[in-house]
Amino acid sequence: MKATVLVTGGDRGLGLGLCAALLEAGWQVFAGQYLADWPELPALQQRFPAALNLVPLDVSRMDSIRAAAEVIRQQAGALDVLINNAGVQSETSGAGIRLPQNYDEMHRLYDVNALGALRVVEAFLPLMDAGQGKRLCFISSEAGSIGAAQRTSWFGYCMSKAALNMAVKLLFNDLRPQGYTFRLYHPGWIRSYMHGKKALEAHLEPEEAAALALPHLLGARPDEDRLALIDYEGREWPW
Ligand SMILES: NC(=O)c1ccc[n+]([C@@H]2O[C@H](COP(=O)([O-])OP(=O)(O)OC[C@H]3O[C@@H](n4cnc5c(N)ncnc54)[C@H](OP(=O)(O)O)[C@@H]3O)[C@@H](O)[C@H]2O)c1
Repeated sequence: MKATVLVTGGDRGLGLGLCAALLEAGWQVFAGQYLADWPELPALQQRFPAALNLVPLDVSRMDSIRAAAEVIRQQAGALDVLINNAGVQSETSGAGIRLPQNYDEMHRLYDVNALGALRVVEAFLPLMDAGQGKRLCFISSEAGSIGAAQRTSWFGYCMSKAALNMAVKLLFNDLRPQGYTFRLYHPGWIRSYMHGKKALEAHLEPEEAAALALPHLLGARPDEDRLALIDYEGREWPW
């Protein structure tokens, strides 16, 4: 049996790039599919019909996550690597504090970006216990670094990524002694779809961002007992 990996938010952007790169590298890939009518993931599956499994997955809903875990349990029986990639951003999040804030939208960002990864780990831990890899990856952001924060708004996104970072630290404290290794990663500014349409002004194509991310996500680190937020150039960010 090939090594197995789940990528959440696999439809487009970095998630799709990671799925493609993992398939090229010979992995059995389960891609969380959130956008049933977006064509890129089905097109990738035509190229890798045996190695790519599309699994409906909404990380904001526990029933959806449990159903995805059951599909993977039946098909593979175990999971080696989990890449928590799904994330959302919002245009309204950029309003400064003298403008009305959209708290419903902030709740949505927190629900997907922070709680989503926690739900996925909870539901998939039994499958990961049964796997060999025991690698938990989290796509966070420099926007979640409190120590390096320069922005004056984007409350929903920045606060949700800071909360994700804390969730990962708590998971690390619990699961590292049980043999798990962790990657907390800032992937750079990507020409992806976080604002609904492709961000052409950004620095990295999703394929480039995926190629930079994979060695860090899959490789070894000299100090697995110290959790760090590392970026696409290997730099460490403050908490
Ligand atoms: N883009 C950047 O410059 C940048 C920088 C730092 C960190 N990141 C992080 O990188 C990760 C990937 O983002 P990206 O840039 O590739 O953006 P993206 O193109 O928007 O990809 C994220 C994927 O997750 C999906 N998704 C949204 N809500 C979901 C849910 N509830 N359950 C499952 N999937 C869901 C998105 O669908 P929709 O398109 O329908 O929302 C999309 O397919 C995110 O965690 C993001 O915060 C991105």
